[in-house]
Amino acid sequence: MSDQLTKLAYHTLQQGKSLVGLAHKEVSSRLMDLLSPEVSARTVPVPPALLAMLQASMNRLLDRDWQEAEQGLYPASLLFDAPWFDWASRYPLVWLDIPATWNRRRERKVRDLPQNVDPAAYPEYYLQNFHHQTDGYLSDHSAALYDLQVELLFNGTADPMRRRVLRPLVQALKSFGDRPPGCLRVLDVATGTGRTLRQLRGALPEAQLIGLDLSTAYLRQANRWLAELPGELPQLIQGNAEALPFAEASLQGATCVFLLHELPGSARQAVLNEIQRVLEPGGVLVLADSVQLNDSPEFAVPMENFRRVFHEPYFRHYIEDDIDARLTEAGFEAIAAESHFMTRVWTARKPL
Ligand SMILES: C[S@@+](CC[C@H](N)C(=O)[O-])C[C@H]1O[C@@H](n2cnc3c(N)ncnc32)[C@H](O)[C@@H]1O
Repeated sequence: MSDQLTKLAYHTLQQGKSLVGLAHKEVSSRLMDLLSPEVSARTVPVPPALLAMLQASMNRLLDRDWQEAEQGLYPASLLFDAPWFDWASRYPLVWLDIPATWNRRRERKVRDLPQNVDPAAYPEYYLQNFHHQTDGYLSDHSAALYDLQVELLFNGTADPMRRRVLRPLVQALKSFGDRPPGCLRVLDVATGTGRTLRQLRGALPEAQLIGLDLSTAYLRQANRWLAELPGELPQLIQGNAEALPFAEASLQGATCVFLLHELPGSARQAVLNEIQRVLEPGGVLVLADSVQLNDSPEFAVPMENFRRVFHEPYFRHYIEDDIDARLTEAGFEAIAAESHFMTRVWTARKPL
């Protein structure tokens, strides 16, 4: 396929994903107004000018995504990479799950978790139904629906946002250029179902990749997806990002995507401290999470609506938190940040 044709195919695919995401949200919120009006969140209306800004920002993200593939930072095939048939077959399950979600919202049940969960095995802040999700992060059912739910939420831009960690990571790892690529170890903290590891494998085909998460169910799902990829399998480890099971200075790179907004401030700091500890001097951390009020004041309304619609107990604190200051406190330097649509990406180095 010629480059122009591939580009057209990519933009068409993204438009399709965006339409599906918008239609899903519109239909489900209308149904909620009709069948369960007491559950409807009072969201702030989004004025047309803001909608246009969001659309323009999303288009810039997609242009960047295409350009970086074209420059060879990762294979263009990654832009089309998704388990389409699997998602299509799971889509009815998303709908079947919606009434249970409404119920939890109505009854303000935010700790509605499977009976077999041992609370002593997890931090207290984790034992909740983030996004009112059935079973929180603690079942195969939740893990089976997660990727699709995130795609619908972000109108198909979740992976393009995750891929923004690749350029700063690959650039920073060049400082270890004297080592064989197979000796570089990169950890994805809170890897969930492994979507970021998939992107990392595209950009770093030979590196040793490791994914860590608290949820064994999500890691089982990650294992299913990652086992399909050619090359070395990423290693998956169940553990708490606040107490990483790695020796000091044993890794050259780390990523952490969409975790910080789900942690209380003290845990956020503890995770950054731990990542700093396990990185080798000169090693790089690339963080990606929601944009914040300081860097994207124009998106204050979508941020507020996200908090009102979903159970995200630490989001309000997160969007006002000073992540640069936390990175400095953890001992990082050369901190830089940039925004891509609804995601902020920070890069930071452990001093030599
Ligand atoms: C919003 S999801 C993001 C998952 C993934 N990074 C992605 O991009 O889809 C948050 C993830 O963080 C994990 N998590 C939350 N607190 C954690 C902790 N203290 N240690 C390790 N994982 C944690 C959850 O199990 C969940 O998989």
